[in-house]
Amino acid sequence: MENDVQRWDKKYRQAALAPILQIDPLLESHVVLPTGQKKALDLAAGTCHTSVYLAKQGFDATALDCSAVGLALGQKLAKREGVKIKIHEMDLDRVMLPTGPWAIISCFRYLNRALFLSMIEALAPGGLLFVKTFNAHHLVKAPAFNPEYVLQPGELASAFSMLEMIALSDGDNSNETSSWIVARRPSG
Ligand SMILES: C[S@@+](CC[C@H](N)C(=O)[O-])C[C@H]1O[C@@H](n2cnc3c(N)ncnc32)[C@H](O)[C@@H]1O
Repeated sequence: MENDVQRWDKKYRQAALAPILQIDPLLESHVVLPTGQKKALDLAAGTCHTSVYLAKQGFDATALDCSAVGLALGQKLAKREGVKIKIHEMDLDRVMLPTGPWAIISCFRYLNRALFLSMIEALAPGGLLFVKTFNAHHLVKAPAFNPEYVLQPGELASAFSMLEMIALSDGDNSNETSSWIVARRPSG
C-alpha cells in the first residue's frame, strides 16, 4: 500500500488543476437534489471532481482517498468552484468506511470488493449508490492491467442485489470496458 500511495502522490504532484469540472454522466442523470439527508461520500475520490459536483448540488460532500496530494488538489478545485468539501486521507485497505448514514456513496474507477457490504450498510434508507469501474473487457485493450481490479460480467448485480436497481451495465457488452451500477437502498 505504501507504494500505491507514493505512486498516486507522484501522479497528482505532476497534475495541474483541471480547467473544467469532470462529471461522470451517471451522476448528472441520477443525482437528485437533497431533501432530508445531505451527506455524500466519494470513495477513492482522487482530485475530488465528484465531491465538488455533489457539493454544488447541495450535498455535504466528503472526499476520501489515500493520496493527500490528490485531496489537496481537490480542495483547490472546490475553492475555485465556490464550494466547500471535507477531505479524509484514509487507506481503504485498512479502515472501515466513515460512519454514515450517507445519502450518496460514489466510487469511480476504484475496485475494493471487501467494501461492498459496508457500502450497502452505510447508505441511508433511500440513499443512492454509484459504482463504476473497469471490467474484464478492459484487459483486451490493456493486457498489463491487474486482472484483480476488473469487474466480471454480472458481478455488480450480484454484489448489490439487496438494493433497488436504477441503472446497470454489467459487462454484457464487449465494447463497454467499464461496468456500472446506480442503486437505491430500500426505504422500508
Ligand atoms: C483511478 S483513480 C480514481 C479517482 C477518482 N475516483 C476518479 O474517478 O477520477 C484511483 C484512486 O484510488 C485511490 N486509492 C487507491 N488505493 C487506495 C486505498 N487503498 N485507499 C484509498 N484510496 C485509494 C488513489 O489514490 C486514486 O486517487
